[in-house]
Amino acid sequence: MPSRVRRRALALVVVALLGLVLVQVALAGDPAGLSPRGPDSPQAAKIEDIYWVLIAITGAIFILVEGALILFIIRFRNRGRSKTAEGPEIHGATRLELIWTAIPVVILAAIAAFVLVKLPGINSGADSAKAAGPPLVVKVQGRQFYWNFVYPNGVIQVERMRVPEHRNVKLIINSEDVNHSWWIPALQGKFDAIPGKTNHLWFTADRAGTFQGQCGEFCGYEHPHMTAAIQALPNSDFQSWYTSEAAAQANGTSDLGKMTFDGVCATCHGFKAQGGYGPDLRGNPVLQQRDALTTLLENGRNQMPAVGKGWSDRQLNALLAYVKRFSGGTGGG
Ligand code: CUA
Repeated sequence: MPSRVRRRALALVVVALLGLVLVQVALAGDPAGLSPRGPDSPQAAKIEDIYWVLIAITGAIFILVEGALILFIIRFRNRGRSKTAEGPEIHGATRLELIWTAIPVVILAAIAAFVLVKLPGINSGADSAKAAGPPLVVKVQGRQFYWNFVYPNGVIQVERMRVPEHRNVKLIINSEDVNHSWWIPALQGKFDAIPGKTNHLWFTADRAGTFQGQCGEFCGYEHPHMTAAIQALPNSDFQSWYTSEAAAQANGTSDLGKMTFDGVCATCHGFKAQGGYGPDLRGNPVLQQRDALTTLLENGRNQMPAVGKGWSDRQLNALLAYVKRFSGGTGGG
């Protein structure tokens, strides 16, 4: 086989293998691959539409430009000419220049038009869910290093938010300390939680299930552990949980204390492999001292952020009652 033919065959094999690898990456399931998670809400579906249109357009441009580059490298290679030989001088090509100016303008205008059409539906309630009643409004408070949720009936949750499926949910997002970013990829895009500013985010879960998320903005040493989950339930299941949880939290029989400890304290003071940045709390006499512990939670100390700043008495009391069990030094996680 002549060397030229052999080189061409080799190049063809390399390109074909690369193509196969890329297709595998593109089609691989969650969490790998080019495909975003979900979508499991109409809002996330609109974001994904924009994503795929942009991938298609930019992918086509990439293949066209890189293909032309490779073609020209092969077609116009040296072929043994002298290094000092000059090529023909060409002055202007008005038609060509107009074409390569107009095409990008048209492409950018098409992308802008498509995005502007999709945009209004990305952060608003889904029309399909309007029949299910008014939106459920949940306050989302970003803190170092957990998410606190407060429902209209007073129910408090930490890190896990329960919502009814097929119903519009409106989140009121803020932060008490530094910038965080609320992000449940399958349901919505990222939205910043900023101290002193209130942001609103809408989503509508298409199905029952648990959707994982992660704080999307670096907010300190425990940022990677600032996770969140939304659990969408059938409406009747949600309603029965919602009313029974409200009653349990009002009379102090709920697991709010444990939930707060696991979501807030254990991130740094975990007893097992998880956490461990802060000291082990077992046997610490402060756990018995209501006033000292309250001051510590509300103001922080040294490396410890003011994790309990702005908590309601309900949440504070639930935590204080729960952590007493660790003050004897024998408790476990
Ligand atoms: Cu909160 Cu990163």
